[in-house]
Amino acid sequence: MTAYPKTAALMARGAEFLGSEYAILCGAMSWVSERNLVSAISNAGGFGVIACGAMTPDLLDAEITATRALTDKPFGVNLITMHPMLFDLIAVTAKHGVSHVVLAGGIPPKGSVEAIKAFGAKVLVFAPTIALAKKLFRSGADALVIEGSEAGGHIGPVSTGVLAQEFLPALAEEHIVFVAGGIGRGEAIASYLEMGAAGVQLGTRFAAATESIAHPDFKKAFFRANARDAITSVQVDPRLPVIPVRALKNKGTEEFTAKQIEVAQALDAGSLDMMAAQLEIEHFWAGALRRAVIDGDVERGSVMAGQSVGLVTTELPVATIIANLLDQCEAALSKRLLVA
Ligand SMILES: Cc1cc2nc3c(=O)[nH]c(=O)nc-3n(C[C@H](O)[C@H](O)[C@H](O)COP(=O)(O)O)c2cc1C
Repeated sequence: MTAYPKTAALMARGAEFLGSEYAILCGAMSWVSERNLVSAISNAGGFGVIACGAMTPDLLDAEITATRALTDKPFGVNLITMHPMLFDLIAVTAKHGVSHVVLAGGIPPKGSVEAIKAFGAKVLVFAPTIALAKKLFRSGADALVIEGSEAGGHIGPVSTGVLAQEFLPALAEEHIVFVAGGIGRGEAIASYLEMGAAGVQLGTRFAAATESIAHPDFKKAFFRANARDAITSVQVDPRLPVIPVRALKNKGTEEFTAKQIEVAQALDAGSLDMMAAQLEIEHFWAGALRRAVIDGDVERGSVMAGQSVGLVTTELPVATIIANLLDQCEAALSKRLLVA
């Protein structure tokens, strides 16, 4: 008997797909989603995902082994599609018989979905349009994550509320779709489940959990921040592309704007060519997330956070966060049923 019967009923498809008790994924967060947080999420009935990020195959191998030592529940591995060793990383997940692989950061390259399915794992993908999502399902993807611009980290331009209205009616009956971005409370989970989502994915809500290895200053920055402090990186010059990332406003954000102006001026003056100029912009944030998460440099590092950061006010164990979300979701669903 579950304490959350209505929530469990609406999450049944997603939970069955993930092999977890509840269809609540903790989205992979580079440097944050390692063995401790991932195992804590899965042990608490959610679904943890290791962030492979820029890891080498050897490091991923060790991380999966260490996570397995901390949980016997299923968890996933997030691989970035642009990683130069993507197929070697897939081989590592195959060696360990990882049950779910999330392909993030772009359209999966030819053969990657097939390589994952070949060893029996399920593949989760992201897609910015319905047409692309359908194409990915046709080529073997098992589930889709739609992620709105409220989310922390690298983001697309459309909000979760609008994506949910576009994608869920078109795809959710036939396919497994998880909704991510801006979810901080269970009432929001209830809404997306009612709209047809199989489950949800949260990142920001879990980044400052007790089990997260993020530096105490990184967590404090989360507790202090309001929704409006989680801003997207701004592009100053059309010649110098900037990938939108949502993070807490700090000195680094200001310096990044100043750097773009300086580089654009150097470009105009002819003291930098286009290639060198674009590289300077690209390299500005190199290692910046690690500086914030691991070293605690919240002034110059990149404190990636979604707008739901305003709802994160204290450090709580993962199990408490999940229980709170489920309580809120169940209460919201119960109220609606009473009205009916
Ligand atoms: C600090 C941080 C790092 C992240 N790193 C990654 C990553 O490496 N790969 C990825 O696919 N998503 C990454 N994300 C996105 C999360 O997996 C998740 O989809 C997102 O946080 C959900 O939205 P929310 O932050 O509003 O809960 C990151 C998010 C945060 C806050």
